[in-house]
Amino acid sequence: MEKYSVILVVLALSVFNVASIYGQIKYVDKNQEWILETNALTYKLGIIDNQLHSLYYGSKLNDIDPIVTWIKKKEVAVRGGLANKTPAIEVIFLDGTRDLDLRFSKAEIFSDEGSQVLRIDEKDSYYPIIISSFYKVLPEYDIIERWTEIKNVGKEEIRMEKAMSASLWLPANNYELTQFTGLWGNEFQPNTALLTQGRKIVESRNFKSYGSSLFMVSKENKVNEFNGDVWYGQIHYSGNWALEFDKQAKGDLQILGGINFWDTEWNLKPNSTFKTPIFSFGYTNEGMGKVSRNYSSYIREKILPEHMRNKIRPVLYNSWYATQFEVNEKQQLALAAVAKKVGVEMFVIDDGWFKGRVNDKSGLGDWTVDRNKFPNGLNPMIKKINDLGMDFGIWVEPEMVNPNSDLYRAHPDWVFHFENRSRTTGRNQLMLNLAREDVYQYLHTSLYSLLKDHNIKYLKWDMNKELTEPGWPGKDLSVQHEVRIRYIENLYRLIDSIRKEFPDVWLETCSSGGGRVDIEMFDRMDVAWASDNTDPIDRIFIQYAYLNSFPANTMVSWTTHEYWHGIPYSLDFRFNVAMSGVLGIGHDITKWDQDEINLAANKIAQYKEIRNLVHNGDLYRLSSPFKSNKSVLQYVNKDKSETVVFYYKLGDNLKGSSAMPFKNDIFKFRGLNANETYILEGTDKKLLGSDLMGQGILFPLEASYSSTILRFKAD
Ligand code: DGJ
Repeated sequence: MEKYSVILVVLALSVFNVASIYGQIKYVDKNQEWILETNALTYKLGIIDNQLHSLYYGSKLNDIDPIVTWIKKKEVAVRGGLANKTPAIEVIFLDGTRDLDLRFSKAEIFSDEGSQVLRIDEKDSYYPIIISSFYKVLPEYDIIERWTEIKNVGKEEIRMEKAMSASLWLPANNYELTQFTGLWGNEFQPNTALLTQGRKIVESRNFKSYGSSLFMVSKENKVNEFNGDVWYGQIHYSGNWALEFDKQAKGDLQILGGINFWDTEWNLKPNSTFKTPIFSFGYTNEGMGKVSRNYSSYIREKILPEHMRNKIRPVLYNSWYATQFEVNEKQQLALAAVAKKVGVEMFVIDDGWFKGRVNDKSGLGDWTVDRNKFPNGLNPMIKKINDLGMDFGIWVEPEMVNPNSDLYRAHPDWVFHFENRSRTTGRNQLMLNLAREDVYQYLHTSLYSLLKDHNIKYLKWDMNKELTEPGWPGKDLSVQHEVRIRYIENLYRLIDSIRKEFPDVWLETCSSGGGRVDIEMFDRMDVAWASDNTDPIDRIFIQYAYLNSFPANTMVSWTTHEYWHGIPYSLDFRFNVAMSGVLGIGHDITKWDQDEINLAANKIAQYKEIRNLVHNGDLYRLSSPFKSNKSVLQYVNKDKSETVVFYYKLGDNLKGSSAMPFKNDIFKFRGLNANETYILEGTDKKLLGSDLMGQGILFPLEASYSSTILRFKAD
């Protein structure tokens, strides 16, 4: 018999005589099993020989015994026993034992913010350590949040050489992996490859990602944008992370995710607990597009800072491409005057405003206003910008310092470095050791004063140099080995306190473009700078790929004058690309002629009409630039009463080539109401939802590097 329970349920082996269902987590007493269910996924765990085992991860199972391949692998993969898996957890006890032997201890199901959470504790058979595995089920997103807590309940320290968040198992099959890695100017690029026997590791080692930790595993050649099984996940962590794929000789696949413990250890003190980051995972049988919609909705509705989550992202102006380091009040106000005319809502001054910042060789670390450039400080300028009706934002790069700065001259020991080694600079800067409390306090005071003394409503938080020489001379070696984890803890603490003290300030994460964009950042930051590459063609690829992992309301996209390919795109084309995310402008707009000003004003007005739909709608990607010279993004609002479709034409097919038949591509819409009649905006053309989805419409563009936006509304 099964029964529902609304309060905390604690299950110990001794009381395994009651079966219960708690929301989406079902405990089946007779088998000692837990069944976790989302809309499309079942994840099954059970106790076998007193140890927690993973039994199933895949499409939803029905009640009658299904025909599936059961897994039967230890759920918590530890170093110990047979070396037939990749350990997620590796510890050393003080007597030298480097082996864990876990036994089931107890389980409980509880409610957290309206979601059900399963916790299963295992204890070592001899040593005083408890490993707790957590599963928070989010049915509507087909996502389970998974994390691990490791508790030292003894009197001696335990050294942890590895503590990843989770290990997942899939039964023997041919699997391919799609990962999203990249580099500066070419972020989030998808790569798909067959997983062959052995271990494949995708990781970040220097605090930079230029991609996301999103993985999608599917059966070989069996998945596309709309169909096919996909097992997916992401690590919620902004420091070094790692995904490990262990394709076993027999064909089983083990997937691990969490903090990258390369050159890292953690000293687990008596009575302390180490909590891993969340590793969210899920499953869909609706192809890769559904993964992107699941993650977009999840991040939008559950992750992004709650009080800003539903606010409309402002149209931005950013000074970087126009004025670089040479900023002053008169010139910024000239930009602001035009920005106001075209409909900008947030005017952001980028790099160059602070003491000594004449170029990228000096100034970082000294977060006070440069009086040579702004003799009256920033406030008179901010007031004029506010008087124009715009909010004001500013750029900072708190974690860095130039050797040519007052801060470095006073505290050369505050940066990461090793004794007897040179300090590797990147863009002429060094990284502060934010694991230090004095560095934390300095940065907190600097940011606090900046925000308190000025009417700042938007903070762009940059981080340009990668981590090198992660040393902390004078500190215990064990602490030095923990430094990367401690740094990220303090980074989160710093952002969280600024967020709390200045709740209405928008926060943008940036790291030389998209070098630090992840779900844990979105827990505290509202938007992200996806790439320094603002060439619209490259942006079509980068943004398409970004949208696999993150929602459009986080993707800041500016139109600028950049030509990475030397192609003279029209301003209209540039706007249409930037309008599929959070629109910004980066041109030197004081140089715009009247036609350009008029065009920008019209595009921004059009954007304001559709931005709510773009930011909060479901995205269907009808054509991928990675597969053809046409990219089509269709956003549909939640009640399906409206859809907006972005069409982009890349380079032309060669005339007479075999690509000619693709000239007349038809794309079928998705996600509409079949019985609804939709009107194409600006026309009296009426189309039935079932026709738009069943027949589709012809790709409306001919010329290379052209674009258009079509908007349909229910009649
Ligand atoms: C790198 C960022 O990605 C750019 O957008 C800009 O803010 C520069 N830093 C400023 O130095």
